[in-house]
Amino acid sequence: MSVPAHDPRPPHALAPGATTAFAAPPATSAEVAAPAGGATSAAGAGPPRHALGPESFVVVGGQDNARITRLAGALHDAHPDVWHSPAASAEAGAAMAAALPAHLLRAAHRHRSLGNRHQALVVRGLTPAPGLQPTPATLTPPALGRAARQGMLTLLGVMALFGEPFTFTALYEGRLVQHVVPVPGQERAQTSGGSRSFLDWHVEDAFRADRCDYVGLLCLRGDPSARTLFSAVGAARLDARTERTLREPRFTVGPDLAHAPAGRVAESVAGAGAAGAVELAGLAGPADAAGPGLAPDGAAVPVLSGSTTDPELRYDAVYLRPLDPADQEAATALRRLGAALERSAVGHVLVPGDLLVLDNRRAAHARTLFAARGDGTDRWLLRVMTCASPRAHRRRGARHVIA
Ligand SMILES: [Fe+2]
Repeated sequence: MSVPAHDPRPPHALAPGATTAFAAPPATSAEVAAPAGGATSAAGAGPPRHALGPESFVVVGGQDNARITRLAGALHDAHPDVWHSPAASAEAGAAMAAALPAHLLRAAHRHRSLGNRHQALVVRGLTPAPGLQPTPATLTPPALGRAARQGMLTLLGVMALFGEPFTFTALYEGRLVQHVVPVPGQERAQTSGGSRSFLDWHVEDAFRADRCDYVGLLCLRGDPSARTLFSAVGAARLDARTERTLREPRFTVGPDLAHAPAGRVAESVAGAGAAGAVELAGLAGPADAAGPGLAPDGAAVPVLSGSTTDPELRYDAVYLRPLDPADQEAATALRRLGAALERSAVGHVLVPGDLLVLDNRRAAHARTLFAARGDGTDRWLLRVMTCASPRAHRRRGARHVIA
């Protein structure tokens, strides 16, 4: 068994000014060990069998990161209005391109154009600025310091290479940059605030037709037990009958609980797991009340789409189900897809300064469980979602926060 390696060196140990593109970190014995937080998926996810290859890494050297951080600080200091609106934040992120090294721009272009086997890119070395505040214990921290803001601009800057950043009104106060942190009382939630439960396989916002094309996760603080897993549908081996079934509109996706008011999340995690989550998350309402990208509750959708050589998927182990509960063929196809995704899964433990860019149309992801300490040193990721098509962005009113 081989599992992905991560560079054990602290980012400051990278050669000054090094700008090695596609330098895969060496394997370490620590990484070969099974994760401390094992998967507990109902489908029985074990440690992933596959490692991220060199084509999935791009390393930003110390001098490049210093230049990126300096520009983020300058934008933050000179233009406090960048935080006054999501549009202003998005524009500031676009301005960050001036500090990004050429090899990162080339790698991003290559990934956006062609993807890779696992549909994932890790940008390593975007180390947070000194003085990072303690990890917040809420998904909507009321106050953020300069270092956190610099990280937010850095993330927006790199993700601008993958489209226009946006989010949903109902998601974490409509914040363009979201916080993935363990939240006390939500340890077992299937949301960004969970920790002690395996975060089951999903694409972001599977119930939305206008879900993001890419999701970027920038690690400010890591946890060695929290392994991010991802699996590209193009690498999943499916028999012809299963694939044919999954391409038919015989499925439906319930709304994600993350879109529920905070009180309902707390209510659900006190309840009965996945089934309870689906029931509680009945948010979509009648079809005529749904927004332009919001699938009416119970809408019939396929799981797979696109060409057979470059397929796309809409998947969520918790919220996706056969449209007809009696459709055994559809249920079997879903089970086979879940197993195939696990078989071809790759895992990566994010370390501070890692930015993981996932293709949300071609790969599902998950996370192993980990223990939160609640002492300000817990895992802290920043998240940004993008719409890859400028035309699609314009067609929905060029809004960065959509209903
Ligand atoms: Fe996710």
